[in-house]
Amino acid sequence: KKGSYDHYMQKEIHEQPHSLTTTMRGRLKDGGVLLGGLKEHLKTIRRCRRVVFIGCGTSYNAALAARPFVEELTGIPVTMEVASDLLDRQGPIYREDTAVFVSQSGETADTLLALDYALENGALCVGITNTVGSTLSRKTHCGVHINAGCEIGVASTKAYTSQIVAMAMMALAVGSDQISTQTRRDAIISGLTSLPSNVSEVLKLDVEMKELASSLIDSESLLVFGRGYNYATALEGALKVKEVALMHSEGMLAGEMKHGPLALVDENLPIIVIATRDACFSKQQSVIQQLLSRRGRLIVMCSKGDASAVCPSGSCRVIEVPEIADCLQPVINIIPLQLLAYHLTVLRGFDVDQPRNLAKSVTTQ
Ligand code: UD1
Ligand code: BG6
Ligand code: NA
Repeated sequence: KKGSYDHYMQKEIHEQPHSLTTTMRGRLKDGGVLLGGLKEHLKTIRRCRRVVFIGCGTSYNAALAARPFVEELTGIPVTMEVASDLLDRQGPIYREDTAVFVSQSGETADTLLALDYALENGALCVGITNTVGSTLSRKTHCGVHINAGCEIGVASTKAYTSQIVAMAMMALAVGSDQISTQTRRDAIISGLTSLPSNVSEVLKLDVEMKELASSLIDSESLLVFGRGYNYATALEGALKVKEVALMHSEGMLAGEMKHGPLALVDENLPIIVIATRDACFSKQQSVIQQLLSRRGRLIVMCSKGDASAVCPSGSCRVIEVPEIADCLQPVINIIPLQLLAYHLTVLRGFDVDQPRNLAKSVTTQ
């Protein structure tokens, strides 16, 4: 039921304080993390040579958002695979690998075919899914149900944030035997606890995002630059705009800017730069300076109170978001972009919940 909302996507965006709460319910215990679906397999995962994340679309982006903290908290190398590309290449998967399959529906054909392939190659196969009883849940050796509640809008929103949180809990559980990272884990757990209230806070940007959307309604294209923890945010924000608002949009690694994308910059092309506080902050400040010196039309997302730090000249449009433990910041930062994509779609007169040519679950290859 949509209740008081006009569209499922809108309802699902605004539901996130609740869906994130249910994702974490009963799983943060005595200052640690308890994932019933993984506890018997933690030793095997700790001993593995590599974690391979596999997914499609938004689920791939969620895994990409998880990559930095999984590497940091477990020390295990992480590689990324788009499911169809792994199959196209018949890429190497070994018995010593932990293959983590991420899928909201648990029924995406490419992801399931990649799962069969990884099972044949003897890897430990772990699922991260929203759907109890799905093929993915049944065929994987173990996994985590994200418990975000049924998602109806074709463009995934609340499942994305819950997938990231489920993988954060997974990383905390796998890394829990490491004494040297205890303080870091405590900080992340406290960040998780405060996440729902911070998400409620960032949702108050709704009106501001609607205004921003109306200023972008006639743009042909939109770039989103991110790096580090928020590279995935750039890809996912651009994917949302592309799939529902039917506007060309690309998420880009800010570190690659001068190796090509800079050629596109002029006073018309809108560019969102994600520059919230983390170890990459000063690098993003210099990216903003380089874009401004080429007269770029900038929209900067920054931590609350940082407007003048990111844009001293005052010539950027600024979106200020609450600050949280750096590795969880992607959960906060995607929300204004979800709202932007939603409003852009409504203002452009397109179908929000059933975007042209797309399906919620792609069950054929
Ligand atoms: C489970 C119960 C939950 C109950 C809780 C109480 C289910 C589905 N979940 O949650 O209702 O409140 O115990 O302790 O009954 N799995 C996979 N692949 C996946 C996802 C999960 O194999 O992609 C497996 C897990 O390894 C586990 C089982 O499915 O064996 C349930 O997973 P999950 O719901 O995440 O476990 P709990 O959180 O313990
Ligand atoms: C489809 C959907 O392409 O499948 C996307 O339109 C989704 O929104 C993708 O991200 C992957 O789906 P799932 O269920 O495997 O997460
Ligand atoms: Na299973």
